Amino acid sequence: MIRPYQPMGLRIPNEKLDLVGGRVTEDYVHGYATAEQERLLKQAEHWRDELILAGTRLAPGTRLLEVGCGVGAVLGILGMAFPGVILAGVDIEARQLETARAHLRRLGLEADLRQADALELPYPDASFDHVWMMWFVEHLADPVGALKEARRVLVSGGALTAIEVDYNTIWASPTSHALNVLFAAVARTMEAAGRSDAGSRLHEWLAEAGFTSVDPGEIRLSYNGKDLVRQVPYVAAVVESTLPELAQLPGVSVSELEVRFAELRALPTTPNAALGWVVHKAKAVR
Ligand SMILES: C[S@@+](CC[C@H](N)C(=O)[O-])C[C@H]1O[C@@H](n2cnc3c(N)ncnc32)[C@H](O)[C@@H]1O
Repeated sequence: MIRPYQPMGLRIPNEKLDLVGGRVTEDYVHGYATAEQERLLKQAEHWRDELILAGTRLAPGTRLLEVGCGVGAVLGILGMAFPGVILAGVDIEARQLETARAHLRRLGLEADLRQADALELPYPDASFDHVWMMWFVEHLADPVGALKEARRVLVSGGALTAIEVDYNTIWASPTSHALNVLFAAVARTMEAAGRSDAGSRLHEWLAEAGFTSVDPGEIRLSYNGKDLVRQVPYVAAVVESTLPELAQLPGVSVSELEVRFAELRALPTTPNAALGWVVHKAKAVR
């Protein structure tokens, strides 16, 4: 889940990507403000054990490329957890890479970071043993094209890991009309900005791009009790960050949305409450 937290009522404008051809969906939904960059670092920490490291094994010497590496948050986690991995990252935006360089330097990690479009990776064929993509494919106008390009730079037998959510699957219990309307509006907003269902479609896109041994890696997340207390602020921030786009949907008012956000934030105070959604940690082989 990859939305910036912006306090309600404030908005950091999205900037159009036209830096190197800009083959991304029309508006990159998150923008490149410092707050968004800090959010990416916190977000990777949030998912460190449950999503990034769970089920991941990288032998020393593995040449790993993260496509859409942002501020290097995920590269940092992988580099610290798997010493000896040779790190590389590309991102379309120079400001992300600047922050990534500083972040990885602070961690004492080396990485080859380059500004590039996922559709034209600046590496020869068969340069990597593993390609990683996270909270990334959902932004692309041509996900299959990017996966084909990832496949090109992998060695034969090399692996790809892609982690994406499906925004259409968010649920809360006890159910309420207000929350259901809110979640549906979030999915519509994400669809307008890119793909709302990238997680659920990864396996078909991977197969179309020519990968084999495709594992859709579906994970049905569900939280209650103490785990719910930890997750609700995260999900609420993600949902609240869509306020500017949500407020543009026909028949939706900001004040009504704020009431729904408050209901979401209060969920842990409801006895036996739960919240969940589906994420995919898909794996495939070249
Ligand atoms: C939400 S961030 C995720 C960053 C990182 N994977 C993480 O989980 O922290 C998505 C990143 O993809 C980059 N991006 C978007 N379109 C791209 C493209 N066509 N090629 C390369 N990077 C792209 C954006 O600049 C942004 O840094």
